[in-house]
Amino acid sequence: MQKRKQDWFKDLVIYQIYPRSFMDSNGDGIGDLKGIISRLDYIASLGVNAIWLSPIYSSPCFDNGYDISDYQGINPDYGTFEDFELLRDGCHERGIALIMDLVVNHTSHLHPWFIASKASREGKYSDYYIWHDPVDGHEPNNWAGSFGGSAWEWVEERGQYYLHLFSKEQPDLNWKCDALKEDIIAMIRWWGDRGVDGFRVDAISYLEKAPGFPDSPLPPFSTGFSLAMDICSNLPGTHKIINELSSRVFQPYSMMTVGEVICRTPQDYHDYASCSRHEFDMCIPFVPPVVEIATWSPLAMKKKIIETYEVLREDGWWARFLSNHDKPRQVSLYGDDTRFRTRSAKMLCAIMHMLPGTPYVYQGEELGMADVSYDSIDDYDDIDTRNFYAEKIATGSSPEEALAEARLISRDNARSPMQWDDSANAGFSSGRPWLGVNPDYAEWNVKKEEGDASSVLSFYKAMIALRRGSEAIRRGSLAFDLPDDPVLYAFERTLDDESYYLVANFSGKDTALPLDLSGYGDIVLCNTERTFLAKDTVLAPYEAIILKRQ
Ligand code: GLC
Ligand code: CA
Repeated sequence: MQKRKQDWFKDLVIYQIYPRSFMDSNGDGIGDLKGIISRLDYIASLGVNAIWLSPIYSSPCFDNGYDISDYQGINPDYGTFEDFELLRDGCHERGIALIMDLVVNHTSHLHPWFIASKASREGKYSDYYIWHDPVDGHEPNNWAGSFGGSAWEWVEERGQYYLHLFSKEQPDLNWKCDALKEDIIAMIRWWGDRGVDGFRVDAISYLEKAPGFPDSPLPPFSTGFSLAMDICSNLPGTHKIINELSSRVFQPYSMMTVGEVICRTPQDYHDYASCSRHEFDMCIPFVPPVVEIATWSPLAMKKKIIETYEVLREDGWWARFLSNHDKPRQVSLYGDDTRFRTRSAKMLCAIMHMLPGTPYVYQGEELGMADVSYDSIDDYDDIDTRNFYAEKIATGSSPEEALAEARLISRDNARSPMQWDDSANAGFSSGRPWLGVNPDYAEWNVKKEEGDASSVLSFYKAMIALRRGSEAIRRGSLAFDLPDDPVLYAFERTLDDESYYLVANFSGKDTALPLDLSGYGDIVLCNTERTFLAKDTVLAPYEAIILKRQ
């Protein structure tokens, strides 16, 4: 087992790989482990020191691997266990930690545990999932899973329903069952013994379900069922289990952990991500894209940064990300992917990487990859997108309206294949990719951006190098100026006698900077041609400037 400093996670820059879409080595149109191995030098060239792999385990892929049928097996579409070992060693040789996805809220309906559990009410696995008798001849309550429909599915053999907070192919595990808990703990240790350095822990806020299974008070979908997530989030039993996983496995193995959780209040951030609680090193708060699109603004985002900084500054840590495989592309959502694509992509990078916390880069983000816009709902693969579309049609939207909305929220925006070069299929595959390549690939790809000092990619490399070279940026304190300004971000990072200052204009308009930073120091990184900062400066649209104190 590797011995590490307890807080090694604070110095990481993590690159998230969605294996299905990263690089296909054998022309079947599906990204795979050999493909990732062939691009390790590229990943290392970014300056990152960890990768997080979305699930690579055996899975029928109803939810692209977030439905696991064998926790210790590798999905044959992605390769073999030997490929996994080569990938792990390739990472470690380059000083890159390997973080895997841990999906233990549910398994696939094809996991042998579930097959045994559904066969009979007797035997070792009968209690591994959440079974309930019918109530008045139908579902036990009004709960809907997050992908629509009832969260309960009838099984004739047992004469009972099972619970699934996601799709019916993702039955929820019963964490009240000790044998299940012990099996999961043994499985995590098994990966720890095989050199995995940490876990991103999937959908982990719902381990304990609302006691007594009360109806959800939320408004119903067209199916008559209401989302169950809210009343099943962050219950005391869930925190207790996470704490036990931490003390029995994560900490003894010095694993880095990040929980994907629901954070409604500052207290939730504290509960999941402060050291004293012994749960996770940091957390990724999940916000559904539909909610994020409707509610975010530069100011709301800034307020959240300030608020969560205060909550965790004494005793916790933050994950810094704007993208992942569940979200639209960040330059499309938060930046401007038409008029200011390069500049706004760089600004988003500068803000995230200048904050205290561990930055995450989602594959393709470093190129400024943007949302896709497929012609038909049939071109979309994501189970969530297809259910969303069906719900829109069921509630009276026209196919055109439903498709337009589905495009905006679709998780496939983040899942279109990585754009390596301007050859066929963006160099991702010699076969037909499982999901359409964004037609803008001739312009936006690794090869082109590697040869261009002013590309988004070159900016990411410079930003990551700046961060890795500066203790103040990694570990220093944070102080915001202009906390109420609707578009300007202005903050300082300080440790001992080292300080950096970031100013950014989070808008598509010229904006006067009401601060005099002219004497602060030199510009060390900037996304415009600016070489010095005068008094009474007007910042260009999406301009971001980083100064180092003299
Ligand atoms: C998480 C994953 C998402 C998946 C869901 C169910 O939110 O990030 O992709 O669909 O959990 O496992
Ligand atoms: Ca392949």
